[in-house]
Amino acid sequence: MIRIAPTLAEMATYPFVRLEEARRELLAQGVDVIDFGKGDPNEPTDPIIRQALVDAVPERAPYPLAAGLPELREAAAGWCGRRFGVELDPDTEIVPTLGSKEAIFSLAQVLVDPHSSKRVVAFGEPAYPVYERGALFAGAEVRTLPLLRENAFLPSLRGLGDDVAIVWVNYPHNPTGALAPLEFYEELAELAERHDFVIASDEAYSELWFDEPPVSALQVADRSRMIVFQTLSKRSSMTGYRSGFVAAPPEVIAALKAYRPTVGTAPQEFVQRASVVAWNDERHVEETRGRYRAKRDVLMPVIERKGWEIVASEATMYLWVSVPYAEAITEALLERGVLISPGTFFGPSGAGYVRFALVPTLEECKRAAAILEEL
Ligand SMILES: Cc1ncc(COP(=O)(O)O)c(C=O)c1O
Repeated sequence: MIRIAPTLAEMATYPFVRLEEARRELLAQGVDVIDFGKGDPNEPTDPIIRQALVDAVPERAPYPLAAGLPELREAAAGWCGRRFGVELDPDTEIVPTLGSKEAIFSLAQVLVDPHSSKRVVAFGEPAYPVYERGALFAGAEVRTLPLLRENAFLPSLRGLGDDVAIVWVNYPHNPTGALAPLEFYEELAELAERHDFVIASDEAYSELWFDEPPVSALQVADRSRMIVFQTLSKRSSMTGYRSGFVAAPPEVIAALKAYRPTVGTAPQEFVQRASVVAWNDERHVEETRGRYRAKRDVLMPVIERKGWEIVASEATMYLWVSVPYAEAITEALLERGVLISPGTFFGPSGAGYVRFALVPTLEECKRAAAILEEL
C-alpha cells in the first residue's frame, strides 16, 4: 500500500467535489441541471482579452519567471492606483500569481515557522476552504473565528494575540456577500502591529459589487503588514486563465519571489499579456456587474416571496439565504435539477443558510425562479 501524507489522508473531500459528483449523476439521468453550486463564472471572457491571448502565443514559450513581466506588474500597480488610490512599486510590491488559490494555499508555508510558538493561522468561518488547508499543510495551527450575522459577518478580533502569525480576511465575503468597512481594516492593522502578525486579505470579489465599490485592505494608513490577493477570475470571468497578483510589503514579495520558482507557479507569459489588457479595461467589468445584477433581480423577489431571508449579499456573485431547513431545501431543489450549496459546506457557522452562486445564464435563472416558485 502506498502511504499518503496524513494531512491529506485526514482531510475531508473538497466540498465542491461532492457537488460535482451530484451534478454528474443528475446529468447521467438526463436531468437538465441548473448549477448554482460552484462559483465558476459562466460569463464570456471579453473578446479583447481573448484576442490579446491569441496574439501573444509565441512560436516557443520559454519558462516564465516568478517575477512576471514588467508590463503585468505595472498594469497591476496602475489598477490598484486607479481603483484604490494607493501607490505601489511594481518591482518590489507586486508579484503575479496563477489565479489566487495557489498563492493563498502556500502563504503559510512562506511565512509560518511551525516549530515556533507563533504558528497560529486565524480565519473567519464560514469560509473558502483554502486558508485552512494551506495552514494545515504548512504544519501551522488553525484558529477559526465565527462570522455571525449579529456582527455583520465580521470576526471578533479579541482572541488575536502573540501566538498569531497570519489573519485571513475576505471581503467582499464568500459565501455571505458581506462587506468590511475601512475602519475594520484599520483596527486589524493596529492589532497586527501590537501582536506582530500579518493580515492576508483575499479580495477576489472586490469588483463584483452592486451599490458602492468596496474598499481594499491596501487603503489603510499603514499597510506594512497587509498582504492583498487579487485575481482576474471573477472580475474578468477568467477562472481558466489562472491569473492574479499579490500586493504586499517588499519583504513579503521578496520571500514569494524566493519561494515561487521552486513550485513553478509563474503564469504563462501569453496569459500575462492577456492579463495586462484585462487590468487596463473597466468596460467589460461594468458589463459583468450588469449581468450579475440582472440575475439577482430575477431571483431575489422569488426567494423573498418564499419567506426565506436574503442576508448580507451586498457584493460578490453569491446570495446568502437564511432558510428554515437548509439540508431539506438543498435536497428538494436537487431533485428538481437545481444545485445550490448548503451553508455548512463553508463551516459550522453556515448552518441555517444556503448559498446561490449566480453563475447560470439569465435564462436558466428565470427557469430556476419558476421551479423555486413551485417548491
Ligand atoms: C474567496 C475566494 N478566494 C479566492 C478564490 C480563488 O480564485 P482564483 O484562484 O481563481 O483566483 C476563490 C474562488 O472561488 C474564492 O471564492
